[in-house]
Amino acid sequence: MSHEPTRSRQDVSSSGNSPNPSGSAFEGRTFYIKTFGCQMNVHDSERMAGLLSAEGGQPVTEPGAADIILVNTCTIRDKADQKALSDLGRIRQVRKDGPGTVLAVTGCMAQREGEEIFRLVPDVDLILGPSQIRNLIPLLDTVSGERTRVDGTLWPVPEMTTPPALRPPGVSAFVTVQEGCDKACAYCVVPATRGAERSRPIGDILQEAEELVSLGYREITLLGQNVNGYGQKGDTAGASFPELLRRLSELPGLLRVRFTTSHPMDMSDDLLDVMGSSSRVMPHLHLPVQSGSDRMLAKMQRGYTLETYRRWVGKLREKVPGAALTTDLIVGFCSETEEDFEQTLSVVDEFRFDGAFSFIYSPRPSTPAHAWGDIPPRQVSVERLERLQKRIEQQAMERNQTLVGSDVEILTEKWDPETRIAVGRTPQFLTVRAAVAPEDADPALGSLLPVRIEQAARAGLKGKALPHA
Ligand code: 5AD
Ligand code: SF4
Repeated sequence: MSHEPTRSRQDVSSSGNSPNPSGSAFEGRTFYIKTFGCQMNVHDSERMAGLLSAEGGQPVTEPGAADIILVNTCTIRDKADQKALSDLGRIRQVRKDGPGTVLAVTGCMAQREGEEIFRLVPDVDLILGPSQIRNLIPLLDTVSGERTRVDGTLWPVPEMTTPPALRPPGVSAFVTVQEGCDKACAYCVVPATRGAERSRPIGDILQEAEELVSLGYREITLLGQNVNGYGQKGDTAGASFPELLRRLSELPGLLRVRFTTSHPMDMSDDLLDVMGSSSRVMPHLHLPVQSGSDRMLAKMQRGYTLETYRRWVGKLREKVPGAALTTDLIVGFCSETEEDFEQTLSVVDEFRFDGAFSFIYSPRPSTPAHAWGDIPPRQVSVERLERLQKRIEQQAMERNQTLVGSDVEILTEKWDPETRIAVGRTPQFLTVRAAVAPEDADPALGSLLPVRIEQAARAGLKGKALPHA
């Protein structure tokens, strides 16, 4: 859900299908990956790092020290394009010269722009989109060997296999279960950048989850553009999404399973039943509503009305008591009136979301709405966004206040023995900083820690660890 630039990797663990160091042409070559965009992109970077290190490549943290630089871009809004382009401007100044050095632009902006990138950023050597990740090594071979520029988006799309991933060490790992998107939301560039929806075979997913547990991970977040539609599309489709969750929740050593992002049109009673009955499937549903106005939802081609969304929220509350509900919202879509916007404000009041990502509509080339125009003046949309965000923040603060005095269980993700502060998340995905008394045992990373909430701050919750066995 974060749309911020993310870390590059240095100290990492490997899992996935057959990482197989082969002593190839990449042996000892250094690589640097900069990531923009969503969790999918973060995970795509982990897969590219996995492919390179399986070939003997070495991750570095500075672009200037790298033989191979990959800038993994996002293009969801115009701002994302601008961020990537400005970063590329900086990186091309510091890149190493010489044979075998490569500057590659990968990800969604690369897919959408194709060879236009060569004009926008001089001295880019390689362009490849998200569906071409499995071709990373042959594509790098081609540019390194022939010293030509290659637009990899024109290469045939390889089959859906899962390259090894190189993840930072930790407690929580991403696992892709579904790629692409067959929905046709009028504003969204993703179907154009990530292609048709397809699901990964359940056997591969379970095998990867087992490997992750054996490496010490205790939480898995399943990723898919419409993750709850898992199993519906593609030759590789296996079980349904609820079945996948059931199978994962039986895996010894895996304490928590999360998933994102769900689509209202792919919701099912079965999914809510699994969430309600398994203590390992976390009670958090990220279900983008986008707007509170039926007129806007129809124009956005979302395929549901507010009443349908409301029914699912009702069922969530009934079947998964205490579940967190988070969402995405867009303001300033084509022809949005003050009345449409006020309906969005009132659904925020009605559903009392536990969190929301909210955005000003940004017209994207290659989407249906691009040509429609009739966008509210920028200043109007900026004001609507501010009003919306204020309302959401205020609700989150009120919700946090109600938690003061309650006991929660966090999965310990960080532990500082000097300050004796443990940091982790509640099942509902709220971050808690917990003080551990000097007489209590140090909590192990990846262990569940009971905490009494003592204070609600804007940035999160604070509490004290309860003595545990
Ligand atoms: N403009 C603004 N927001 C968008 N989103 C997707 N496309 C656009 C766009 N063109 C938002 C949606 C989606 C989230 C990932 O980004 O709310 O759920
Ligand atoms: Fe992720 Fe969408 Fe950005 Fe691609 S365009 S990185 S799918 S948010």
